[in-house]
Amino acid sequence: MCGSRFMGLVDFQGTSSSLCTIKSSASSYHRPCCHSFQRTQWRVTCMASTVQVKVTGDSFIRPHLLKLSPYQPILPFEVLSTHLGRKPEDIIKLDANENPYGPPPEVFEALGSMKFPFVYPDPESRRLRAALAQDSGLESEYILAGCGADELIDLIMRCVLDPDDKVVDCPPTFTMYEFDAAVNGALVVKVPRKSDFSLDVELIAEVVEQEKPKCIFLTSPNNPDGSIISDEALLKILDLPILVVLDEAYIEFSGIESRMQWVKKHENLIVLRTFSKRAGLAGLRIGYGAFPLSIIEYLWRAKQPYNVSVAAEVSACAALKNPAYLENVKVALVQERERLFKLLKEVPFLNPYPSRSNFILCEVTSGMDAKKLKEDLANMGVMIRHYNNKELKGYVRVSVGKPEHTDALMECLNCLC
Ligand SMILES: Cc1ncc(COP(=O)(O)O)c(C=O)c1O
Repeated sequence: MCGSRFMGLVDFQGTSSSLCTIKSSASSYHRPCCHSFQRTQWRVTCMASTVQVKVTGDSFIRPHLLKLSPYQPILPFEVLSTHLGRKPEDIIKLDANENPYGPPPEVFEALGSMKFPFVYPDPESRRLRAALAQDSGLESEYILAGCGADELIDLIMRCVLDPDDKVVDCPPTFTMYEFDAAVNGALVVKVPRKSDFSLDVELIAEVVEQEKPKCIFLTSPNNPDGSIISDEALLKILDLPILVVLDEAYIEFSGIESRMQWVKKHENLIVLRTFSKRAGLAGLRIGYGAFPLSIIEYLWRAKQPYNVSVAAEVSACAALKNPAYLENVKVALVQERERLFKLLKEVPFLNPYPSRSNFILCEVTSGMDAKKLKEDLANMGVMIRHYNNKELKGYVRVSVGKPEHTDALMECLNCLC
């Protein structure tokens, strides 16, 4: 700068200032000059023995994040309420696969009688992991809890991926895998699902051989279509030299067993689960995973020590104390899913796909626009999710609610016929 032999001290003016001053240790006069370096984000002005450097905050950001598109979350309930001019309780929220029954009463009691909210939580979530061992039949040493399954997806990537490593994603699927891969500087290799949303196992095998990706994210039941992965397909993929992360966020609604136990036999398998759907605890943020012992050790080392809050652990433990409630809610949602499917099939502009989860994907047909359908329903107080990306153009996804939610949705859909 002002000649590459410049030496000086950097003196930041205030914590949020974008201006820093470099005081010269050289006594000679520096001609005022303007100089750009680091992709033109720094401007250096040398005046007498002082050089002023104009810094923009994004010059500190890691280069791969400068191109990152933000994750598109759904609107918070209160914001939505203001937006639509309706009270939160008057909004029928079928856009995020939440469990409308909420958690069992034990959770509210436990939250109301927390003794030590001022003490940091157990970094090993011991009580919860013991309860999960009972619940799943898998010993607690294979289990690690997180701030939602979302945190575990990111934690796995942080432990496994070097920048520019490759991750296989099978769209259409949960978009968090692609998002976290981008945050972690990894490259995403897409192997799209077939037209019936089943995995293209042959193409996955080819891609693994050619591209040498580090891991693959699989979802069963898959979000957004609700299809499940067969044992046969999963075993074929587990035979490949790749780490398989199987996301079972919706497994309770599928009628098939979780594969958590499989981590004892397969060194390249991780299984993720959550309390968000099964126990109505999406707002408390609590998920868990089953890991081979040779992998879990490193997740313990890399995770934030207090990633699971006292409230989250207390809630999850309390929810597991009432398995009858969890079972009844699951049965109610599965029954309602079947009723909703039949009703959606009768809507002339919708083509619903059979689902093994708590949501139903529908193709929007007959010239109806999926985005407009979503907007029209939102204006009537019913929220659904719509898709307009490469893999899913002109589709909507409807979460399964209580019977009265289905009735309200159908009434609104009938108005649009
Ligand atoms: C497939 C899938 N995995 C994980 C999650 C997130 O789970 P959690 O709420 O535990 O972070 C979701 C949320 O919708 C999901 O659809």
